Amino acid sequence: MSERFRNKVVLVTGAAGDLGRLLCAAFLDEGASVVGLDVDVAQGEQMRSDALAADRDFTFRALDVADPQSVAALGRDGSPVDVLVNAAGVISYAPIGETSVEEWDRVLGINVRGAFLVTKAVGPRLREGSSVINVASSAALRAGAGWSAYSVSKAGMVAFTKVAAAELAPRTRVNVVCPGALDTQMPHRLLEGHPAKDTILESMAKASMLGRLGEAQEVVPLCLFLAGADAGLVTGATIAVDGGMTAW
Ligand SMILES: NC(=O)c1ccc[n+]([C@@H]2O[C@H](COP(=O)([O-])OP(=O)(O)OC[C@H]3O[C@@H](n4cnc5c(N)ncnc54)[C@H](O)[C@@H]3O)[C@@H](O)[C@H]2O)c1
Repeated sequence: MSERFRNKVVLVTGAAGDLGRLLCAAFLDEGASVVGLDVDVAQGEQMRSDALAADRDFTFRALDVADPQSVAALGRDGSPVDVLVNAAGVISYAPIGETSVEEWDRVLGINVRGAFLVTKAVGPRLREGSSVINVASSAALRAGAGWSAYSVSKAGMVAFTKVAAAELAPRTRVNVVCPGALDTQMPHRLLEGHPAKDTILESMAKASMLGRLGEAQEVVPLCLFLAGADAGLVTGATIAVDGGMTAW
């Protein structure tokens, strides 16, 4: 086992998701003590028992990032944190005219207000030399019909990252990663039952210069780099990991 994150405390929101699980596993592999946070308690408990069996230092805590009271309790914990990853998120796809106010508020409430609430609560716990990594999306950087709520929420995360980087410097570096379309359950769930599902997935793949969807595993090394001391000069950065999708 590598020791890159030995004695480091890592908090991951959206820990029970496809990307979140891989991030937790990667930080655990590198010796960190990881706290997974998610609304999906069943998956979180499964992760906790798997980690226990593997003798890994993993704790799961149920957390709704959209709920200010439950997030504020995170701040009261008080113990130091070295790395915070804001990966909790929901996807939404509908033309503006068909996006309800409730859906708009739900998506922004989880994706961007959630990252704000968690950063606000955990901020005082962040140790000298700490790092915050926000997970946005290529949708923050590139227009696409039907993505208004999702794009705005992720673009908000990009702006929030820059402000947080300015405010938390020099103690904490804050960066945002923008994955392109990943071959995870998220897009498959969204398109479930859609008659043009395969065509849409194909067009998402073609939007990338590499002509394929990304794998969640391909986002993980960048997050670990940003979390660690090798990225000591990197803060306020928006980094696409999208096969060139936003570089055309
Ligand atoms: N999958 C993709 O194609 C893709 C592309 C770009 C960016 N992203 C972003 O990457 C992140 C992870 O995506 P994923 O593919 O692993 O999706 P996922 O749906 O597998 O994981 C998202 C996780 O967030 C959790 N979550 C949702 N609402 C929450 C809330 N209110 N409080 C706490 N947790 C909550 C879910 O329970 C889930 O475990 C998301 O922010 C997503 O927007 C995904």
